[in-house]
Amino acid sequence: MTTFVPPTRGDGPLRFAEDIPNTPGQSETIPSSWYTDPARFELERKYVLNPSWQIMCRSEELTETGDHVVWEGHGETIVITRRKDGGLDGFHNVCLHRGARIVRDSGSCARRFKCPWHDWVYDYAGNVVGIPDREDFDQDILNNLKAPQVELAEWGGWVWGVLAGPGVAPPLNEWLGEDILVDLGAYKMEDMYLREKVTWDVDVNWKVVVDAFNEFYHAPALHHIPPQDVKDGREMRIFEFERHSMMVVPLKGALPKLRENPDHQSVAICHYTIFPTSVFNNNPEHLQLFRSVPISHNKTRFETWELWYKSDDQAYLDRTQRHWDHLKIVVGEDVWTWEDVNAASRSSYYKQNFFNDRECKIPFFHNQVNRIINEGVARDSAGN
Ligand code: FES
Ligand SMILES: [Fe+2]
Repeated sequence: MTTFVPPTRGDGPLRFAEDIPNTPGQSETIPSSWYTDPARFELERKYVLNPSWQIMCRSEELTETGDHVVWEGHGETIVITRRKDGGLDGFHNVCLHRGARIVRDSGSCARRFKCPWHDWVYDYAGNVVGIPDREDFDQDILNNLKAPQVELAEWGGWVWGVLAGPGVAPPLNEWLGEDILVDLGAYKMEDMYLREKVTWDVDVNWKVVVDAFNEFYHAPALHHIPPQDVKDGREMRIFEFERHSMMVVPLKGALPKLRENPDHQSVAICHYTIFPTSVFNNNPEHLQLFRSVPISHNKTRFETWELWYKSDDQAYLDRTQRHWDHLKIVVGEDVWTWEDVNAASRSSYYKQNFFNDRECKIPFFHNQVNRIINEGVARDSAGN
């Protein structure tokens, strides 16, 4: 047995230097319709969700040739497959014949995919390679049929995808940006493994789920954290980048260490909000991905992915299991509040949300969604 040691960190910038302010933002108000309007959800699908990089699955779910994952969210369905050369292919899981879903379940060892309705056959890349009674069709339509493509990339042991296809979003590294690559990259998630995934189907807008993990303000009330234990947490540092944001929350008693130690990850909980649908909640020795999968304007699949380091150190495994068991209860409390958010969401008197300056990551996120929608609508109406 080897005693567990987390990866060496601390090569990135100091996050608690004297000149770094507590928060970069200020109090703001946003309209309730951003959460409740079905028409807005359609705009988000078109301009925000489909053209952005989003996490689809773990690379470890696609290790062998022919392993495939069916991912579904915001009305879309796609298939991701591991090719023989180690790369990934992905295409929209919609039969070009009459629109049935081609592949229902994730699985392994696939050589071809056959649509269940009339047996059209697709290869890994979504090319149509078999059509029963081919001669009965108008032959002109059958040339070079290929399902629409999804752009895929791997980073941090995750498979990321852009549903709108290749070249729509900047390359993944550029999308994530230097701060996220260095800070979140320090955890070496590619060396971790999926310990457990817990999924809840909840009746709230997907952004309610993202918001829930974007502030620390609710911790004393909802999670019953005593005042002396949240004191250091109030000294968190918040960083807003081009698209994403980050929040470094000192563990109790860690502040003096943080002022001189660039390895903030060893003594703080670091949150990374990766636009648009993911929040990482990183503890020094294990981490969670809170993934909001939008389903409709008021339905979301909320996934919590728990990642551990590979170790045979029983003490590490035991304390991490204890902490994770505790966190599942804490996350259950967040889920519980969404019933109340749902219950009030159709009230004629629900007009807006306002946020204090320590909740500034939330309006920062919503303002980006809003800006991207407005730019997209303006572009389309100008005919570009
Ligand atoms: S709908 Fe797929 S083969 Fe007909
Ligand atoms: Fe919470």
